[in-house]
Amino acid sequence: MMFQDKKIVLAITGSIAAYKSILLIRLLVKAGAGVKVVMTPAAKDFVSPLTLSTLSKNPVLSDLFNNDSWSNHVMLGRWADVMVVAPLSCNTLGKMAHGLCDNMLLATYLSATCPVVHAPAMDEDMWHHPSTKLNLQKLESFGNKIIPVEKGELASGLYGDGRMAEPETIVSFIAENFFLKKDLAGKKVLVTAGPTFEPIDPVRFIGNHSSGKMGVAICRELASRGAEVHLILGPSSMHVDDERIHIHKVQTAEQMYQASLKIFPQADIAIMSAAVADYTPVSTQLEKIKKTSDTFTVELTKTKDILKSLGEKKYNGQILVGFALETTNEREYALNKLKNKNADMVVLNSLNDEGAGFGYDTNKITIFEKNGKEISYERKPKQQVAKDIVDRIVNMLYAK
Ligand code: CTP
Repeated sequence: MMFQDKKIVLAITGSIAAYKSILLIRLLVKAGAGVKVVMTPAAKDFVSPLTLSTLSKNPVLSDLFNNDSWSNHVMLGRWADVMVVAPLSCNTLGKMAHGLCDNMLLATYLSATCPVVHAPAMDEDMWHHPSTKLNLQKLESFGNKIIPVEKGELASGLYGDGRMAEPETIVSFIAENFFLKKDLAGKKVLVTAGPTFEPIDPVRFIGNHSSGKMGVAICRELASRGAEVHLILGPSSMHVDDERIHIHKVQTAEQMYQASLKIFPQADIAIMSAAVADYTPVSTQLEKIKKTSDTFTVELTKTKDILKSLGEKKYNGQILVGFALETTNEREYALNKLKNKNADMVVLNSLNDEGAGFGYDTNKITIFEKNGKEISYERKPKQQVAKDIVDRIVNMLYAK
């Protein structure tokens, strides 16, 4: 589990977005975290302490003094691995920026020794007020992190900037910034993905059903672990909006080959997940071909095998990963590919397995490694399959 044994203080302030903290707690607890909630008195008007204590399985703290006894905010700030303020209201932001301390949440904030991350929520005009900007800059200068607000419908009924980030975004932000292994920091990775289209004439091409989903999932996993990712993507409908992934778009096998060759010498790892056309028309007609004859033949010639070429150029220490998609003699063909193409690892997906291969959101793979290891995995969502593949690559990288 992503947050196994992690301790998180969730600080909730008085904002309509407080209802989202309920979902946030559920996500954090489900991911294995221990969660303790501290809230401002105003937050209680938006969400009930009973709901929060039930979901977090811990008492909710709000008052500095309880039945004449003092609540220990210092220990709460020391207990946590990270303190998440979500939602952060304008009022609490202002107080934090100036060191005010008139409730339990602020006392916890001021005494926290762990990293602090804020998810602000406010109406657009408040969000754009210069004092908000200055206060946020102050929190950043204290070393706090700010999760950007989103655009959308606001409590005022207006549409604009100021919505609190969605709970899923907050969870990924925390994972990414505090808990994820950055075991690929400083490493450059080349990934090919998607199909290639080989033009017959200006309107027709030879292509295949590859969606590029598996390759893109691998890129996301690599980027989240700190790698510099270069994705050479064939004509795929995948929308990659991750700024950590550099995308080089290509159409044909030849273009994919040229782009790969350019990046490979600087790469530490190359993962060839593209379904590259094995054959391309000998010549492309410049004008659209008319249907004048009853039969029609297209002469094809072999494309360059990118994986094989990189295997020949590979120098010491570079890790080269190929994919195999087979319908028969899977194991034998996969092992042949490993050897013939001088790869370090081949990921096999069999078209005989249900829910594996083109277009599906799941995949079922077996990994064959140069050292003779052979590992079969269950059918899983492609993002988890990507993690399994990258785990094996990292293992190989550091075993060298
Ligand atoms: N590949 C490549 N360049 C090509 C063809 C394939 O880089 N022109 C890569 C794929 O990205 C994949 C691996 O080679 O990683 C396996 O591709 P596949 O087409 O299944 O294997 P082939 O070696 O072409 O063998 P065959 O067609 O005989 O199965």
